[in-house]
Amino acid sequence: MSAFDPTAEIPQHVAIIMDGNGRWAKQQGRPRREGHRAGADSVEAALEACGELGIKFLTLYAFSSENWKRPKAEVSALMKLLAHFLKEKTPSLIENNIRLQVIGRTEMLPKSSRTELERSIEKTADNDGLTLVVALSYGSREEIVDATRALMQKATNGEIQPEDLDNELFAQHLYTGEFPDPDLLIRTSGELRLSNFLLWQISYSEIYITDTLWPDFRQPHLEAAIADYQRRHRRYGGL
Ligand code: FPP
Repeated sequence: MSAFDPTAEIPQHVAIIMDGNGRWAKQQGRPRREGHRAGADSVEAALEACGELGIKFLTLYAFSSENWKRPKAEVSALMKLLAHFLKEKTPSLIENNIRLQVIGRTEMLPKSSRTELERSIEKTADNDGLTLVVALSYGSREEIVDATRALMQKATNGEIQPEDLDNELFAQHLYTGEFPDPDLLIRTSGELRLSNFLLWQISYSEIYITDTLWPDFRQPHLEAAIADYQRRHRRYGGL
């Protein structure tokens, strides 16, 4: 395996399916919520690593539309963890020039989490370093349905015609409208699934799966993923 080369192409946008918090907790004989808490430390480490490597967009799958089906206590622990994380870390987001954005049906989140999210998004809006996009109550099929509904509404209002629709116009109506597509998609903890994450946006992304559980994921793991990405790109360049 080739080593990470900081002078070679760095992906502009990295998206991560942060999986394995529950398994990590189980391995340690601890409750699942402690796996999520340790996962929040990995989020902080990932932000630092992305800043250092010059990555411009980091999209994290934090809570899927399907995750609402988990036991109430776990959902509530995750929502509290998110609100707590935002409250505690917003000053460091500001200090590190990180802009927070969110994708998903956030109207379904509890009020306290929404309030912290809105506050943090507003306070970091002018930052122009790394953009952190958190996917919350997010499902790619739901996103595609929402985009289609918005487009149908515009067509009904006479603002667009059927022949105006193309890939670009459609993509603009996704929650991710203003972000570039991910160059690299990472999934931790070894599952070979996309789990309803960014299905439209990852059409041309490189996919990297690691057995490392999310709470153990640190900069060297990110660098290993980027090294793999760089190797694939160098091959393309040679064609
Ligand atoms: C998947 O692991 C992880 C989640 C459903 C939650 C992700 C949340 C965090 C990393 C914490 C906070 C996030 C932010 C943005 C501060 P799993 O529970 O499905 O693990 P398992 O498959 O091993 O059971």
